[in-house]
Amino acid sequence: MNDMKEIIDEIKARCDIASIIGEYIKIQPSGQNYKALCPFHVEKTPSFHISTSKQVYKCFGCGEGGDVINFIMKMENLDFMDAVRMLATRCGIDINLNIDEDTKKRLELSKRYQDIHTEAARFYLSNLMSTKNKGYEYLRNRGLDDKTIKRFGLGYSLDSWNSLMEYLINNRGYTEKDLIECGLIGKSTKTGKYYDKFRNRVMFPIFDYRGNVIGFGGRVLDDSLPKYLNSPDTQIFNKRYNLYGLNFARKNLTTRTVILVEGYMDLISLYQYGIQIAVATLGTALTSQQANLIKRYADNVIISYDSDEAGVKATIRAIDILVEAGLSVKVLDLKDAKDPDEYVRKYKTEGYKDAIKEAVPRIKFKIDKLKLSFDLNKDENKIKFAKSAVDIIKQIKSPVEIDYYIKYLSKIVQLDEDAVKREIYGKSYYTKKSLKKDNKFNNFNTKEEKLNIEKVEVAKNGEETTEITLIKMMMKFPFLREKILLKIDESDLLLKDSINIIKVLEKLDPEEVLDFQKLDNIDESYLNTLKEISLELIDINNFHEIEETIRTVKRNALKNKIENLRKHQSELEQNRKKMDDSNKEAIKELDIEIMNIALKTVDLNKRLRSL
Ligand code: CTP
Ligand code: MN
Repeated sequence: MNDMKEIIDEIKARCDIASIIGEYIKIQPSGQNYKALCPFHVEKTPSFHISTSKQVYKCFGCGEGGDVINFIMKMENLDFMDAVRMLATRCGIDINLNIDEDTKKRLELSKRYQDIHTEAARFYLSNLMSTKNKGYEYLRNRGLDDKTIKRFGLGYSLDSWNSLMEYLINNRGYTEKDLIECGLIGKSTKTGKYYDKFRNRVMFPIFDYRGNVIGFGGRVLDDSLPKYLNSPDTQIFNKRYNLYGLNFARKNLTTRTVILVEGYMDLISLYQYGIQIAVATLGTALTSQQANLIKRYADNVIISYDSDEAGVKATIRAIDILVEAGLSVKVLDLKDAKDPDEYVRKYKTEGYKDAIKEAVPRIKFKIDKLKLSFDLNKDENKIKFAKSAVDIIKQIKSPVEIDYYIKYLSKIVQLDEDAVKREIYGKSYYTKKSLKKDNKFNNFNTKEEKLNIEKVEVAKNGEETTEITLIKMMMKFPFLREKILLKIDESDLLLKDSINIIKVLEKLDPEEVLDFQKLDNIDESYLNTLKEISLELIDINNFHEIEETIRTVKRNALKNKIENLRKHQSELEQNRKKMDDSNKEAIKELDIEIMNIALKTVDLNKRLRSL
């Protein structure tokens, strides 16, 4: 292990501060914490406190305080690296002891910067809590209680040019250079003087996932701009890799579902209302690193960004990044509220919990938002919208889900379904590049071949007889043929011989009867059935009855096609399961193929129902 931050964190996590200190001085339990006589100054009553939850110590007599590393440095009079080494050995952490000088320096600096941030946070908090001030008033007006303020270590930066700087330099021994590196002070180009960067702002300490303060956000108390000032990226803080609130949320993610919000205030308000599974991106676009960080603790994400246009755009971007990281994503609907903070204050905990339950699956969210950008009163817009919506649907893998969204989409566009299909898929639907011929998972070379396979599938006996009966009627009774041909074509037939015959029938003169002798290239068994079937029991003047036969024939053909498509789809799905990552291209093509089959099945099912 030689990542500096990791080493420090690991030591702090593994070396329990109370037991380490207990090896040096006598400590007494006091609730969940401990008290002791301070080893760093002379006293008679114990003012030295150890917090087990925060893993820090503080003496209220002499002001000494810090974490386990600080204690060892002070107690053993060691420099930072030696203290780290000593603790690492004690708790069995294998650190690379041959780290080079550069790494060693950076390691020391990281620790120093962490300490500076902790001290600054304490300073801001004490400004907020000790005397009357505008920051405290502001936070209380926004509905935060004292418990929440302390939990998040919120603070106030005084309306002064250098109060923090003076405190950290004069009382804590840090240098201007340190504070510049931490982004806490700046240097005026005009006067050459240093000044506090955060002034007259409520301060939000930013924690890493372990709870160390690594940066700050400072909010103005009014409507002036910029609303927030944030720490720059430093050696210990990188916005792209961090999520605000993860230190709290990660302990509560028992169902592996996390809520993603944009702002400090959103996260803190939700927390106060008992919703303690949120993390915040802090207004910047979600990064893939943050998505991967989430994936460590959760499988499901409910995005709860602001409801304005910027929030919706950010949501759509975040969806893709989260899905890419393998997370399942839903979007929370804030109704009339502008952000989660306003929502939870208005509808309370139960209201927000209901909204979580009703969160919209990501595809539905995308389609709904897309819909808003079209005026669907015009047919051409419906088609344009449907085309873009299909692009969204194509991202789905599960055929069941695809079915669902195709239905959802057709309901929205309310257009004649065949027309929509033609417009959406056009010729490309049928000529879409099929799987490569040399692909071993490929059972079908072209769409045509596939259609033929569907046709030659031998139909069950009853179905066969009905179809042949209808063909015979058309051959024998020209007046019926004309009517029947208006309602049926070759795509409605199961048997390839029926199709061949209907092609001949279509070309006959209106009065002409088709004789068996005129048929060639017809299977013998088909021909025999055709001859044997009796039309005597059929009332050829009752067209209702004949229409019923037509419907049955159509239904049978559709059912048969659907069955074949399903079989084909499940074969492809089996093949897909066998593929591994090295076959990315083939998997993609297979997915498209599966999707197209699923779309077609839905199409046929609808036609079946409408018969
Ligand atoms: N943000 C920022 N700089 C800004 C504006 C916003 O860094 N100038 C970040 C902050 O982290 C903020 C988040 O983006 O929390 C979301 O912005 P917004 O919704 O405007 O802030 P809220 O936290 O909701 O603040 P408030 O409710 O106090 O307006
Ligand atoms: Mn807000």
